Amino acid sequence: MIIAHISDLHFGACDNEIADLLLTQLNDSGADLIIASGDITQSATETEFIQARAFFDRLKAPVFVIPGNHDLPGIDFRRFWHPFERYKRHIAEDLNPVLQTGLSDIVGLNSARMILPHWNWANGSISALQRRAMRNFFKASHAPWRILVVHHPLQSPKEFPLDITVFNGQKLLKAIDESRIDLVLAGHQHHAYIESRNTPDHTTLFVSASTAMSTRVRRQPNGFNILHLSPDTARIDQLRLENGLFRVFSALTHTKKPNKTQASPLPAGTDALPISDPIMPH
Ligand SMILES: [Fe+2]
Ligand SMILES: [Fe+2]
Repeated sequence: MIIAHISDLHFGACDNEIADLLLTQLNDSGADLIIASGDITQSATETEFIQARAFFDRLKAPVFVIPGNHDLPGIDFRRFWHPFERYKRHIAEDLNPVLQTGLSDIVGLNSARMILPHWNWANGSISALQRRAMRNFFKASHAPWRILVVHHPLQSPKEFPLDITVFNGQKLLKAIDESRIDLVLAGHQHHAYIESRNTPDHTTLFVSASTAMSTRVRRQPNGFNILHLSPDTARIDQLRLENGLFRVFSALTHTKKPNKTQASPLPAGTDALPISDPIMPH
């Protein structure tokens, strides 16, 4: 299975030529699924969401998408009264989507908040309800690969200077360990990297994507990731824009340790996330 991981498209602050190139290369990549980890727009305007919708509609593969902090309107009444109304109308109704592909079980969690107890509302947060729903979903998971998609990064490379606060991030990391999640796909920093987190019998890879096509690059050119999943191994190719094409600049192969825990069915009445449909190409 091939999954393309794109992030931070920022319609409204993007390069149209790069957008066309990205579209072509995604459609030529053979991807079975495209995961978009938030910041679909720059300012959450109607026009930007319409442009984003048109882009997704031209992709051959279905798109699994979550919002980012830029998909909330700025400081106006909409942010507080209808924070995700445009996102839901144009992009996807479900802010915390779930998908089962057979080889992978995927949970998306919306970490963008209309208000936070911090001077910078671009930061993120994950609620207890979201963590519980994620745990319950993965308790019943039998797929070889467990994937979490969240806009705000939970593991940052040491040299990266962007100060990011994710409220309840440590609690989410604990839930990630307990749920034995294999891959966490994120964006927000506009910087591609892979970090690992190890428990005695499990490894979680934190995979961040650069901004796919926005003009808001940070220390790296535009880029995206392609994941090649087989039952035991994942090869993660990271691509960046070089001389007019997205080209692989880093490839990592990860082999799963044998799963020492057995997935068990959910007890009746527990609140696992419902399975949602990804956006399908029209
Ligand atoms: Fe962004
Ligand atoms: Fe962001």
